[in-house]
Amino acid sequence: MELFTAMKERRSCRNFLPEEVEEATIEKILEAATWAPSPLNSQPWEFVVVTNKEAKEKIFSEGERCRKWALEKSGWKWLGSYSLDFLRSAPVIISVIGDPKKTGVDMFMEEGSMGYQAACAAAIQNMHLAAHAMGLSSLWFTLFDKKAMREILGIVPEKTPLALICLGKPGGPLTPVPRKEVKEKTIYIR
Ligand SMILES: Cc1cc2nc3c(=O)[nH]c(=O)nc-3n(C[C@H](O)[C@H](O)[C@H](O)COP(=O)(O)O)c2cc1C
Repeated sequence: MELFTAMKERRSCRNFLPEEVEEATIEKILEAATWAPSPLNSQPWEFVVVTNKEAKEKIFSEGERCRKWALEKSGWKWLGSYSLDFLRSAPVIISVIGDPKKTGVDMFMEEGSMGYQAACAAAIQNMHLAAHAMGLSSLWFTLFDKKAMREILGIVPEKTPLALICLGKPGGPLTPVPRKEVKEKTIYIR
């Protein structure tokens, strides 16, 4: 698939078919992740691949707990009807874990370090594009408490679960989401 087509056509999916994803496909998606850039090539990512039903159920419960908390905190109506069933139905959920120690020179900067998170985000985008190119859909999910997710996935306190990537075949057509014009978002300093 042509790269620009993949970037334009990839869409977040919140409705998956139960069809299994082959291990070779998962491995290709993980390999794509590892070709992302990172500060000092520190490769601050690790992955936990979840296909187990009980583990997915625990992730769903944690998502629900956070959804209810966020609804109460924000009052945002959409959270009332936002279904997290995709956390149960996605055949694969890959957790992307970041290592805050592998963050590069920004560890000495006043603003604090975000290099490891930026690198993990680049890895995640590679995963989305690779999945899309192989006929799968995906979702970048972040509505969870890090401490709770560490417990569910068995992650040491020194590392940070940054995102859950749901993967599978889409259960229906994905609605296009518009983008603003580039010129609205850009200034040139010439
Ligand atoms: C950092 C980040 C966090 C996100 N967290 C969530 C999430 O918790 N739940 C969700 O349904 N979508 C989440 N998304 C997906 C966005 O809602 C989605 O990318 C956006 O609406 C644009 O739609 P598109 O991906 O189809 O282009 C997240 C995306 C990013 C980049």
